[in-house]
Amino acid sequence: MLTKFFMNCQEYIENYNIHLINTLFLSFSVVIIALGSLMIMVESVLPTFIRKTFRYGKHKCNGDEHSLANKLEVPKSWFAHFYMFAFGWSICAFYLVLKGMIMHSTAPDLVVIFLDFIGGGKNDRKVLIKSNEALIATLLMTLQCVRRFYETNFVQIFSRKNKMNLFQYIVGYLHYFGSILALLINTEGFVKDSTPSTFSFTKITLVQYICLALFHFSWSQQWKTNMIFVNLRKDSKTGKIHSEQHLLPRGGLFEMVSSPHMFFEIQMYVAIMGILPQSLTWKLIVIWVTGNQIVNALLTHKWYKENFKNYPKNRKAIIPFLL
Ligand SMILES: NC(=O)c1ccc[n+]([C@@H]2O[C@H](COP(=O)([O-])OP(=O)(O)OC[C@H]3O[C@@H](n4cnc5c(N)ncnc54)[C@H](OP(=O)(O)O)[C@@H]3O)[C@@H](O)[C@H]2O)c1
Repeated sequence: MLTKFFMNCQEYIENYNIHLINTLFLSFSVVIIALGSLMIMVESVLPTFIRKTFRYGKHKCNGDEHSLANKLEVPKSWFAHFYMFAFGWSICAFYLVLKGMIMHSTAPDLVVIFLDFIGGGKNDRKVLIKSNEALIATLLMTLQCVRRFYETNFVQIFSRKNKMNLFQYIVGYLHYFGSILALLINTEGFVKDSTPSTFSFTKITLVQYICLALFHFSWSQQWKTNMIFVNLRKDSKTGKIHSEQHLLPRGGLFEMVSSPHMFFEIQMYVAIMGILPQSLTWKLIVIWVTGNQIVNALLTHKWYKENFKNYPKNRKAIIPFLL
């Protein structure tokens, strides 16, 4: 019955050449660039609903009340939920790619039909990503989702009063849903009439090795950055949480920028783009992630400067020496 449903929808998708995942990330990119620019340049003239919906966490709009925006707020600690989802979803994707390569088998029919449905229809879906590249990219994405799952559920300390908007919560799920599928949409073995090729280290290019190194560096540095946040709220001797306040972070790349974790986030997505240079979908994802991390980092930077009189003057928002 599910298969029949997808096939009916698929006819519609084929007729209108609709690529749902590209449309999703293109829309996210347009909204973040347009609204984000307005928030940075002319925030004071924007309607309260937009300002309250856009801001979250420590730089959230306090004071201005808006009953609908207030009703749509959820705890920021719910970040942990979409990492639970991303944890399972990324492992499924990695398993399917690995199994296909080991068994030399195409993905299950239901998976292919579903990918046709969200990836532009079976006539438009072409192989652009080799199995080797897909295996590396899904492994990297899985490593990131597993680490974030561990951090948000077992390590990070979220203040109980911090909130985000319901839209941001939903966008979190859609982001991981779409970006993990983006690794499969144009991959050998996941496109009709294609079979997975075998894995070989000799197929990895120099550029891809450089991207792997960049990913590893950013991944480990993001963990260190998040630990600096954790240690701000914990007593170093007893390990007990002594504060839920936002304090002035120091050390590591914090000496140069206010949001190193967002800088490393962008670098990880760029590194995966280097591994999948043919994927248009991944390029759209990089635009969306870069846009949202830069806007968030600029709002965060402004918040630090307003709240700490002694805030280091040489600290930039997100890109050392530049921004
Ligand atoms: N790929 C994407 O599109 C995307 C989108 C959004 C976020 N992310 C990533 O998700 C991660 C978390 O994002 P986020 O917006 O939650 O980051 P965040 O606001 O900086 O918060 C990260 C954690 O550190 C705590 N924290 C933040 N500033 C602190 C301070 N000054 N003193 C003490 N603790 C502090 C936060 O607690 P509170 O919750 O109490 O503030 C939270 O537990 C980042 O690595 C980001 O790059 C990715």
